[in-house]
Amino acid sequence: MYGSDLRMSNTPGINIIVAVDSNGGIGLNGNLPWRIPEEWNYLLTNVTRTRNSIEEAPGRVTWIVGRKTWHLWTIQQNPNIFSIPEVAAILDSLVVVILTRQVPLQSSEDRDSSIPEHFFVNSWDQVMEKVESLPNLYSVWNFGGPDVYQLQLDSGRLTNDRLYLTNIKKDFECDTFFPDLTEFGLDHKPNPRRSKLVNPEKYSLKLDRPPVLQMGTCDVEKIELIYNVYSFVK
Ligand SMILES: NC(=O)c1ccc[n+]([C@@H]2O[C@H](COP(=O)([O-])OP(=O)(O)OC[C@H]3O[C@@H](n4cnc5c(N)ncnc54)[C@H](OP(=O)(O)O)[C@@H]3O)[C@@H](O)[C@H]2O)c1
Repeated sequence: MYGSDLRMSNTPGINIIVAVDSNGGIGLNGNLPWRIPEEWNYLLTNVTRTRNSIEEAPGRVTWIVGRKTWHLWTIQQNPNIFSIPEVAAILDSLVVVILTRQVPLQSSEDRDSSIPEHFFVNSWDQVMEKVESLPNLYSVWNFGGPDVYQLQLDSGRLTNDRLYLTNIKKDFECDTFFPDLTEFGLDHKPNPRRSKLVNPEKYSLKLDRPPVLQMGTCDVEKIELIYNVYSFVK
């Protein structure tokens, strides 16, 4: 039995979205270790989807990211990743919440118009406060990196949340890894292992729908991609 697809409420669940290689690797030198257009399209399709109705306003799409990823998107012009002005142009309802340990919080009031509305926060509690204060939310996505994923997974508040976990069936050189999910009943042990998650509420991960297999292209090589969507259940 797979879960329902409905996720419309005042405070929608937060979807973690990540692609991992066969060792749980997710990054190298501050960037993605791979360039797989099919996986990229899957990510973009999910994280830019919004309400498609003439009667209703589109609804806000909110992304949560670590400060380094935000800087990669907005300051370093890297052709391998999407440009935030491009995304902002197609998704004018986008709001970005950025985790940083730096104070004071900076505001987005003076932003360049090509940069979406954004807020800097210092903790997961502040992420939740900000998200819950946003009106007309359609979806919320946690983009990582690893500490930002871990903050959500350790928060003990995962009831409406989902994990969009893409398995890339190849071993890449990586220096950044997704948290160890064995505490959630999933056989995902990154190598090398990261610190264990806390999971105070004893959630486990349950497939929400059947996994989807797609062949991706990395350079000229064909690679299996498996798209999984999990719910957190107690
Ligand atoms: N494969 C995938 O799907 C995927 C997804 C996401 C990321 N990645 C990869 O992961 C790497 C990026 O991860 P990263 O860890 O280097 O960067 P990051 O998560 O984008 O940013 C790290 C920054 O977030 C802030 N932060 C972290 N923990 C915090 C906490 N507990 N409280 C407040 N702020 C906190 C700090 O900002 P300050 O320094 O400003 O204090 C920290 O330096 C890249 O290689 C990227 O490609 C891959």
